[in-house]
Amino acid sequence: MTAEARREPLQILLVEDSDDDAELIVCALRDDGLDFRYRCICSEAELFSALAQENWDLVLTDYNLLTISAHEVIAVVRADPRDIPVIVISGHIGEEEAVSLMKSGASDFIPKHNLVRLLPALEREIREAEVRRRERQALRALREQERFLQEITSALGEGIIVLDEDMRVIYMNPEAERLLGWSEAELLGKPLHETVHYLKPDRSPYPANECPVARLHRDGQRCQVDDDYYVRKDGSLLPVSFVATRITGQNGAVRYVNAFQDRTARKQAEEELQESRRQLRELTAFLQRVREEERTAIARELHDELGQMLSGLHMDVDWLRRRLTDTRGPEAAKIEAMAELIDTALQTVRRISTDLRPAVLDDLGLEAAVEWLVEGLQSRTGIDCKLRLELNDAYLDEPIATALFRLVQESFTNITRHAQASRVHISLTMEGQKLRLVVQDDGIGFDVTAPRPRSFGLLGMRERVLALSGDFTVDSRPGAGTTIIAEIPLDEAGASLGSPGRSFA
Ligand SMILES: Nc1ncnc2c1ncn2[C@@H]1O[C@H](COP(=O)(O)OP(=O)(O)OP(=O)(O)O)[C@@H](O)[C@H]1O
Ligand SMILES: [Mg+2]
Repeated sequence: MTAEARREPLQILLVEDSDDDAELIVCALRDDGLDFRYRCICSEAELFSALAQENWDLVLTDYNLLTISAHEVIAVVRADPRDIPVIVISGHIGEEEAVSLMKSGASDFIPKHNLVRLLPALEREIREAEVRRRERQALRALREQERFLQEITSALGEGIIVLDEDMRVIYMNPEAERLLGWSEAELLGKPLHETVHYLKPDRSPYPANECPVARLHRDGQRCQVDDDYYVRKDGSLLPVSFVATRITGQNGAVRYVNAFQDRTARKQAEEELQESRRQLRELTAFLQRVREEERTAIARELHDELGQMLSGLHMDVDWLRRRLTDTRGPEAAKIEAMAELIDTALQTVRRISTDLRPAVLDDLGLEAAVEWLVEGLQSRTGIDCKLRLELNDAYLDEPIATALFRLVQESFTNITRHAQASRVHISLTMEGQKLRLVVQDDGIGFDVTAPRPRSFGLLGMRERVLALSGDFTVDSRPGAGTTIIAEIPLDEAGASLGSPGRSFA
């Protein structure tokens, strides 16, 4: 900044013990038209107090002083953090001394007999001091901004690693250091892929061309990875999720910012949840199997034992009836009522037994049992049913046959209760090594995404299929009917590949 451009007069501190010399300098500057104020001092104590009291743009010091040397003046002013330029004015001094003055921090050296050089030198020094001041200010602002950014990245609770164009580490925040066990200094300049991202979860090598961060390097896409691993300094694996982004600075420098989170706790919770789901699924399958076994046993007991007894009773009542001579008396009426009651009881026993576990499933197999269910639906509701059975005489394990029977039964219950359908297509087919059941109705349909906390029919169907390692789909929309599809993989022997609840430990 030139002296003319300043609005305020310059503040000049003059260190001079000769009034005449001071007068000479002041006049020279005034003659040159400089707008300034000055204070003249001549001791170290005055120098300290002047610096402490006011802001000075420049110090002019004589070389030959009685109470303080020019070197001391320079030392005191240089110790002041304001970076005030010091110009030394003197008579004749040797070149060696002039160099020594400049070395100790004098901004310039002006001979007394050549004061015309003073103003340009003074203006130049003030201008340069101003430039230095602004640079210092900018640097301070930059440092402050850096500190602020670092505090933000620390406060985020995420590990942050910044890479240069060659994917080498140029910055790590404290959280990244804490999570990885590496300090920033240890990783600076090293490639991320070779230091913390070189192993897969099974500890096999992670080829660089598969690394998503390297892909980001190639195609520049932002990448988000939820399930990855970094390697800590001690060699242990850290489950992480991360987002890596390419940024370009003002000067065109490309940087990759990698913000990552420790997934240990989340992963553990996920694993626990999965384990608990697996156990629950096993328990469900086990309970279903036990229930099925109990139903079968009770159905058989009812049918065989109770049915036999009632049939025996029926024969006894017949015997009594035949021996009665008075067929119109009250004894005959009583025997008639007993026979009717026994018939009703027999029918009830058969119905309960069939409801529990239809004998047709065990005696004639799945196809006959499904046909029987279809006939029942048709005759109960009048719905037009089309059945396609193509099991190609495949032998089916009992648990699979039971599961499919129950799936058809449950879907028919839903159709009866909810669908208001007029047509139902059922197909049970073998496709390769897969058993495929489709039950499709043309009813009112429903929103499959709506939560149904108290409905267990579809849930139970899904669980049955999942326990057999199969897939279960419900396809429905309001007004568009409902289709349920179950696909169950089978082994060569027609047995399930899953564990339909055979054991529960
Ligand atoms: N074929 C269908 N047509 C129309 N809506 C259906 C059909 N099947 C199921 N739904 C709808 O889906 C819901 C859930 O069925 P789900 O079998 O799981 O439970 P539910 O039949 O209500 O009760 P339950 O637990 O006794 O089976 C039903 O309440 C019904 O609204
Ligand atoms: Mg139901």
